[in-house]
This record gives sequence, structure tokens and C-alpha cells, in this order.
Amino acid sequence: MPKVTLINPDDSRIDLDVEVGDSIMRAATAAGIEGIVGDCGGGMSCATCHVVVLDDAYLAKTPEMSLTEDQMLDFTAMEREPNSRLSCQLVMSEEMDGMVVRVADPQL
Ligand code: FES
Repeated sequence: MPKVTLINPDDSRIDLDVEVGDSIMRAATAAGIEGIVGDCGGGMSCATCHVVVLDDAYLAKTPEMSLTEDQMLDFTAMEREPNSRLSCQLVMSEEMDGMVVRVADPQL
């Protein structure tokens, strides 16, 4: 199963198994990872699943950003960065195996 590494605000790292077709947000909340809140369940209305993809090469392998995601990223608690994404929209593929993301702080 492909893996994503999450870097928490305290710099601790978590290697997370994410099934192909599942979102990083769903896998993270199912695993009880506190930094990913995911209040709206993936409906792109809460922006509490904000992450920053650390490597441009991996960012290019992620699903294309929709207009709604782009707009929601302007309302995140932590200011948006160039590689910011909503992890509920990062649907896992084999190509994304090994991706590293930083968990936004704060999320609320
Ligand atoms: S879970 Fe709400 S925007 Fe991603």
C-alpha cells in the first residue's frame, strides 16, 4: 500500500498507509492523527485538512486542484503557501507513494 509521510507542527513524522483511491484526510482521521481535523468530511467547506506538499515533483503527481479547493485555500487558518492543498482532495495513487506533506498549524 502506498505511504505518505506527515510532518507534524512539532517536527515529529508519521508514516501513513493510504489505500489507492482514499484521501489522505480520510486515512489520517481514521488513524487518529490530531493535526488533520477534516470537520466537513471532505466536502471542501471547512479547510481544516490543510497540508503543504514539500516536493514539487510529488505535487505534480497529485490530482488537479479544482476551483473550489483553490478558493477554500484562501480561508485556511494557517496562511496558504505555494504548495498548499486540502488533504481531502489528495486522493491517493501509486504514483504518490513516498510523498511528504507538512501538516498546517493551526487548522482551526
Ligand atoms: S475535510 Fe473539510 S475541506 Fe477538507
